[in-house]
Amino acid sequence: MNYKFDTSDLTRRLKRTFDVNLSYRKLFLLLFVVAVFLLYIGPSFLRWLFGHTEPMRDQPMRCMDDRLTPFYLQNLEYNPIHFHPIVSVASSGQPAREATVVEYLTGIVHRFQCFPDGYHVSYQYYAHRTMPSVLVQEIQLTNTKNQLTDIELIIPRISDWPSAIVKNVKLQHGSAILEYQVVTGMIDMLPTAGNAEDNKVRVVSIVARKLPRVITLKKRGTTKLELLLTVNYSEPIARDKYAAQKESTEKQAIEAMNRALLAAEHGEHNAYHNFKRDHILVWNNLWETGFHISTSKAENTLNGNNINATMYAVISQARAYEFEQSVTTARKEEIARSLTYAEGCYDSYHTLQAENLWRPMA
Ligand SMILES: *[C@@H]1O[C@H](CO)[C@@H](O)[C@H](O)[C@H]1NC(C)=O
Ligand SMILES: *[C@@H]1O[C@H](CO)[C@@H](O)[C@H](O)[C@H]1NC(C)=O
Repeated sequence: MNYKFDTSDLTRRLKRTFDVNLSYRKLFLLLFVVAVFLLYIGPSFLRWLFGHTEPMRDQPMRCMDDRLTPFYLQNLEYNPIHFHPIVSVASSGQPAREATVVEYLTGIVHRFQCFPDGYHVSYQYYAHRTMPSVLVQEIQLTNTKNQLTDIELIIPRISDWPSAIVKNVKLQHGSAILEYQVVTGMIDMLPTAGNAEDNKVRVVSIVARKLPRVITLKKRGTTKLELLLTVNYSEPIARDKYAAQKESTEKQAIEAMNRALLAAEHGEHNAYHNFKRDHILVWNNLWETGFHISTSKAENTLNGNNINATMYAVISQARAYEFEQSVTTARKEEIARSLTYAEGCYDSYHTLQAENLWRPMA
């Protein structure tokens, strides 16, 4: 069978349909007018015809939501702790524009939100490298309008974690006394293959700053929040040992917070600055791999940006004991020695040519 069709036959038939003496030029003009009509007036005409209203949420936001939902679900599956530590500004009415930037060299994740009603928010997140139980959130809210503005915060919260209980503690930060919440509960361990004792649990305790739901932004100025959060958890224990273990895990999480607050104190010696600098220095250090990757972005090959992203993902999932505060100097030296012993890195498989190892990030 032959599916190719004869264009001269088609035009001949078209001509016949549009009556005999419709010239090509007129036909073109007619089609052009129809096209312009469809392009400019068509959408609103059709909407008027079928009674649809304009889509409410803006298209890019919805698109972004759709892209991110699978990761959110994955995260839910993977993350058994139903505690949500991230503090955000809630949008009232019109949604914000939002972007996230991961800075590999400093190990800091930046997030920006611009709201249509005249204020914008910059967030910085990092899991502190020398104090591994500390999560830092720095939030800077800028109000460009010449009036005080109340905004609503989405504050750390528990969802569907029935064993969790909350208590309030007061902790000293510099000369101020601040209120913190201690959330403690148990999570079930996934039964592992070949292990009949699937009844084990871990005690998890989280300490987070207590925040008001609404804060008032200064006019024409910035408001800063520096929020620390600490977590400690036990080894897997039998469920009936929970009550006995709970107290000590809670105490360790609070102690971790006290140490973090001391390190991040404002005022004397600019401690907060040093606290952040220590984190960045470790990341600078971790990032020094000793090889250079070209900046080419050629198609269908393994490029430097892919390798950098992979390295970042791997490094951020592993602890760097050689830099942690609580690790003894002797142990650090031992780690340093074993790290410099790099013989054997370059034999066996050629990992750069292994396509499955370097899937695209999109
Ligand atoms: C919990 O705290 C103890 C005592 O400070 C510490 O040794 C342990 O590493 C901490 N555990 C975690 C998971 O941070
Ligand atoms: C990868 O990261 C290094 C920093 O260690 C940077 O110099 C280089 O330009 C990055 N490569 C690409 C392709 O982004």
